[in-house]
Amino acid sequence: MIQKYVYGKPFSTEAVVTEVPAGEGTPAYGKVDTEKGFCFTYIMEETDIVYGLGEANRGLNKRGYCYISDCTDDPNHTEDKRSLYGAHNFIVVSGRETFGLFFDYPSAMTFDIGYTRMDTLQVSCADADLNLFVIEGDSPYDIVKQFRKIIGRSYIPPKYAFGFGQSRWGYKTKEDFRKVADGYRENKIPLDMVYMDIDYMQDFKDFTLHEENFPDFAEFVREMKDRNLRLIPIIDAGVKVEDGYDVYEEGVKNRYFCQRGDGSDFVAAVWPGNTHFPDVLNAEARAWFGDKYRVLTDQGIEGFWNDMNEPAIFYSPEGIDELKGMLKQFLENENYNSGINAGTLAVAPTSDTNDSAETESAGASIWPLMGKINALANSKEDYRRFYHTVNGERIRHDKVHNLFGYNMTRAAGEAFERIDPEKRFLMFSRSSYIGMHRYGGIWMGDNKSWWSHILLNLKMLPSLNMCGFLYTGADLGGFGADATRDLLLRWLALGVFTPLMRDHAAAGTRDQECYQFENLDDFRHVVGVRYRLIPYLYSEYMKAALNDDLYFKPLAFAYPEDSMAVQVEDQMMLGNEVMIAPVYTQNARGRYVYLPEEMKFVKFLPDGSVSEETLPKGHHYVEIALNEVPLFIRSGKCIPLAESAEYVEALDTKHLTMLGYPGAEYTLYEDDGIGKDYENKENYRTLKCC
Ligand code: GLC
Repeated sequence: MIQKYVYGKPFSTEAVVTEVPAGEGTPAYGKVDTEKGFCFTYIMEETDIVYGLGEANRGLNKRGYCYISDCTDDPNHTEDKRSLYGAHNFIVVSGRETFGLFFDYPSAMTFDIGYTRMDTLQVSCADADLNLFVIEGDSPYDIVKQFRKIIGRSYIPPKYAFGFGQSRWGYKTKEDFRKVADGYRENKIPLDMVYMDIDYMQDFKDFTLHEENFPDFAEFVREMKDRNLRLIPIIDAGVKVEDGYDVYEEGVKNRYFCQRGDGSDFVAAVWPGNTHFPDVLNAEARAWFGDKYRVLTDQGIEGFWNDMNEPAIFYSPEGIDELKGMLKQFLENENYNSGINAGTLAVAPTSDTNDSAETESAGASIWPLMGKINALANSKEDYRRFYHTVNGERIRHDKVHNLFGYNMTRAAGEAFERIDPEKRFLMFSRSSYIGMHRYGGIWMGDNKSWWSHILLNLKMLPSLNMCGFLYTGADLGGFGADATRDLLLRWLALGVFTPLMRDHAAAGTRDQECYQFENLDDFRHVVGVRYRLIPYLYSEYMKAALNDDLYFKPLAFAYPEDSMAVQVEDQMMLGNEVMIAPVYTQNARGRYVYLPEEMKFVKFLPDGSVSEETLPKGHHYVEIALNEVPLFIRSGKCIPLAESAEYVEALDTKHLTMLGYPGAEYTLYEDDGIGKDYENKENYRTLKCC
C-alpha cells in the first residue's frame, strides 16, 4: 500500500506517473516537523537496515553516514563525499518496522542516516514543499517493486547496447577512432560501440562536428557501421555563446535559455568557455533542444551520452568578478607581503562538508582567496543566479536543481519518440533524478583507477535498480588516474554483468583500451564471456524492465530469512538464477564468498571451457585467477550460454547451451533488440538443461 502526504506547494517533478491516494493524518512512521523547513525523524533499532539512495557513496546499507541529494560534478569519489551526480530520494527501512519512503523534492535534501546520532534517521530540506510517499509491504523487496510501479517503466536500450564499448576522452580524428576499431577487430576482442567524447565537436559546440576532422560525418558513421560498430557521441548541457552558431542564436531569439533575474541569459563557463543552459524544464525549450539531436541521427547516429548536466559550471562571470574584488583587497593589504598581518582571523575552507577551520596566522589570510577559487566551480551562489520558466512561472534554479539532468535526458528521450517511435535509441546520462529512469540509463561518473572503486560501483548497482535505473555501469578500468592490467581485468570481470559495459578514461591518463596490455588473449576471453552471457543478461534485463523488477538485488532480497546473507555487501544477485562475487582486491588469487544455499560455482576458463563445482551452503574461499570470470548458479536453476561473437548481432541465439542444474528450465526472453514489440508472447521460450 502506498500513501501520499502533501506538504506545502510541491513542484511537480513528474517522477511519479500513477495516481497515489492521499494519506490520512500523519505518516504511520516517524515524525514530520515543518516548523523550519521540512524534517522527518525516525528512531532506528540497532539492527535496522536502510536501503536506497541510488547513486550514492558508501555501502548498500546506508546507515552511519550523511548523504545529500544535490547533483554535483565531483570527480573525487572519496569516502567523505556526501553528494554525487544523482538525486535519488528513495529509501527503505528494513527491520522491526519495514517501510519505504520517497521524498519527491527537487532541491538539496539531507539524509542523515545515523550520522549525528547512530539511532536516528533524519531527512530534511529547506522548504516544506514536497510530496512524501510512504510505502508498506511484506518485505523490502515487495516495497521496492511497489515503488517501481508508481514511477513507471525503466528505460529499455537497444540490444546492441549490451555489447562492449570503448571510450576515451582524447579521441579526436577519424584515425583515432579507426585505431580503436582496428585494435579490437584485429585482435578479435568483441566490440559494439566506440564513444565520441567532446573533441568530435567544433569548439565543443553541441550538435556540430569538427570541420577539419569530420567533413563527411555520415560517411564515417557508415564506415564504422559496416564494421558493425556504432559511434556514440556525447552531448553536453551548455550551449556555447557564439554569434553565428545556430543553436545559440535560435535559443537566444526564442528565449529558450535559463535567465538571470533581470531577464538576461545566464552565462556559465564549461568546456567551450561561456555557455547558456537550455531551459529543459520548460516544455517548449525542451522540445527544441531535443529536436537538435536530429542533426546527428540524420547522419546515422543511434545513441548518445548526456554529460555535464548537473549542470556543471566551471565559473560564472559574477564569480570571477567577486574573485577579482577579493584579490584586489588582498593585494591592497599593505602587510600581505611582509607577512605581519597577524591577528586577522582567517577561515580556511576544508572539505566539501563546509566545515571550516579557524586559525590566527598571518599567512593564512590567503585562505579565503584560495577558498573562493575552489568554490568558483559548481557554486551554490551561481545556482541561485538563474531561473527556469515552467508553465509561464519563473522558478529559481536552486529550487529545482536536481531536475536539470533528468530533463535534459527527457528532452532527448521525447525527441527520439518523434524521430522514430518504432526504434530504441541508446541514451545514458551523468546527472539524474528519479523519473529520468524512463528516458535513459546513467553511468556512474568520473571514478578513479582505484581498487576501492570496483567495490563502490558494485554496491551501487542494486541501489540504483531500486530507484529504477537498470541500464547502468561504471567506467571500467577507472576514469581518473592510471589503470593497471590486473585492475582492468578484474573490473571487466564485474563489467561482464553490468548492462552498460564500457571502458572509459580521462585525458592524460595511461592508455587503457584492452589491446594496450600484454597477453591480449585474457582480454579477448573476459570480454568474450560477456558475449556468451548476453542472451541471459538481456533476457533478465528485459524481464526486470517489463515487470518493474530488479536486475541486481541484494542477497537480503532473495534470502530474507538468512541473517548472514542479509549482511553481505560484496556479492549480488543477478536476475533469478545467478549470484555474482567479483574479486576487487589487488594481488588476490580468489576471495571468500557466502552461499545462502547450495550453488554451482562456475568459472569461465581462459581455454574457453567452463568449470562447474557444486558447493554447499556456507562460507568458502574460491580461487579465481585474473583471467577467469566467476559466477554462481542458484540451486535448481540454469542459464543459457551462446558462443562468443565479435558483436551482438553476430550472436547465434538459436543454438544455446545450458549451464546449471540438470532438469532445470529457463524462460528466455528474446526480441529483435531494436523495436518495441515487448508484449508479444512469442518473445518467450522455455529452455531445458539436460
Ligand atoms: C566529464 C565526464 C567524462 C568526460 C569528460 C570530458 O568529466 O564525466 O566522462 O570524459 O567530462 O567530456
